[in-house]
Amino acid sequence: MTTTKFPANFLWGGATAANQVEGGYQADGRGLSIADALPGGKERMSIVRQPDFNWTIDETKHTYPNHQGVDFYHHYKEDIALFAEMGFKSYRFSIAWSRIFPNGDETEPNEKGLTFYDHVIDECLKFKIEPVITISHYEMPLTLAKDYGGWKNKQVIKFFAHYAETVINRFGHKVKYWLTFNEINSAASFPVMSQGLVPSNGGNEKINVFQAWHNQFVGSALAVKAAHKLDPEIQVGCMILYATSYSYDANPVNQLANLHHNQAFNYYCADVQVRGQYPSYATRLFRENGFTADDLERTDEELALLKQYPVDFISLSYYMSSVTEATGKVDEKTQGNLIGGVKNPFLKSSDWGWQIDPTGLRIALDELYDRYQKPLFVVENGLGAYDELTAEHKVYDTYRIDYLKAHIKALADAIADGVDLIGYTPWGCIDLVSASTGEMSKRYGFIYVDRDDQGQGSMKRYKKQSFEWYKQVIASNGMALSGDVKY
Ligand code: BG6
Repeated sequence: MTTTKFPANFLWGGATAANQVEGGYQADGRGLSIADALPGGKERMSIVRQPDFNWTIDETKHTYPNHQGVDFYHHYKEDIALFAEMGFKSYRFSIAWSRIFPNGDETEPNEKGLTFYDHVIDECLKFKIEPVITISHYEMPLTLAKDYGGWKNKQVIKFFAHYAETVINRFGHKVKYWLTFNEINSAASFPVMSQGLVPSNGGNEKINVFQAWHNQFVGSALAVKAAHKLDPEIQVGCMILYATSYSYDANPVNQLANLHHNQAFNYYCADVQVRGQYPSYATRLFRENGFTADDLERTDEELALLKQYPVDFISLSYYMSSVTEATGKVDEKTQGNLIGGVKNPFLKSSDWGWQIDPTGLRIALDELYDRYQKPLFVVENGLGAYDELTAEHKVYDTYRIDYLKAHIKALADAIADGVDLIGYTPWGCIDLVSASTGEMSKRYGFIYVDRDDQGQGSMKRYKKQSFEWYKQVIASNGMALSGDVKY
């Protein structure tokens, strides 16, 4: 049991992204997205970093697991019914931009794409599940990356604004919570999925990443403008990949490096989106990345938009923490959520080397709330692990329950610390295709989907032990966390 009470209207739920669950990649007029061109397998990240990678889909060389996802496109009713059975109060999902505007630069939207999301939203509302929509989750229409050069091109602001306005106007009367760009700051280390930038279209030049960010900040402000024009009650949030970072030791050199790392990675994007202006340290950051403020294309009108339309709340993903060591004296490295780094000797790691640190989540929430004093929403958290489906179709995922339990306790502690927390939507509430590796075998879900890394399997859904456990957590509003559930 925890002793801290979660607010009565706390949004317990789960989260997914269109490109990782939907499949139906060419159904009903959907255009190709950059996620469709990402090959499956652990080498995904290194392939897209090659100088000649140009988004060509070559099925003779690679598999493309995102094309089928877990076929949510045809299973959404069954899946949402299972979420409802767990007692979800909210479901975070994303809209596939290329379902609405197949190439990204059209004037008229694809009605069949809009209709699909009408159905998904209505299905959620039927069960009193609050939809939380990410407008852009690691995908943009492929044409915008290939022909327009991704987010570094200012024309993309106009296309995005039109797309955002279209979906907000269509669904805004039934959807209160919106997120603009998933893990916008992740481009600091990996601009492929969030900005459509690869080496062959300038992804290795830092100024392009910063220009793309600026363009996205303007896109975010325009989305806030459209939402508040439709209904001032609509809440639009930014979404950052937050990895609490510690200095390796008390060496002031490492402490300073850690401060600068936090500014560059955890705070830069949120500072602009929440405060509506560039932070003072931006000048140093630009200089360290080889350019000056004058090199960025930023108009007075755009800067005024940022000021006028900051986000209403801050959402974050949290999986792990990291360590800053600037002297180069520590060798042992670890993997992580798009960022790696020095290993923390006090922490254990997941099967994929991500360092498990629930206390780091409490620190993250305390720091973010202290910095911005706007509501927070943890929209991703979870453990990617190998699960085994028994002959009786059971998955005894006690390791996942342990991970989530510890992180929910951290949420309770942060609330007791005074943090205004809206909700918690663990990642991949149903098994889905991994973003960093394209694997199915890296599973996060409460619901097992019978599909493997080779694309084989019945796509049947099975409840894991964590399904029953999370149901109990939600029913008790976070008070009953014991893993002793009937399964
Ligand atoms: C976040 C992304 O980085 O982490 C998700 O927003 C992603 O799209 C999740 O799936 C987990 O990462 P991975 O690489 O294990 O799928």
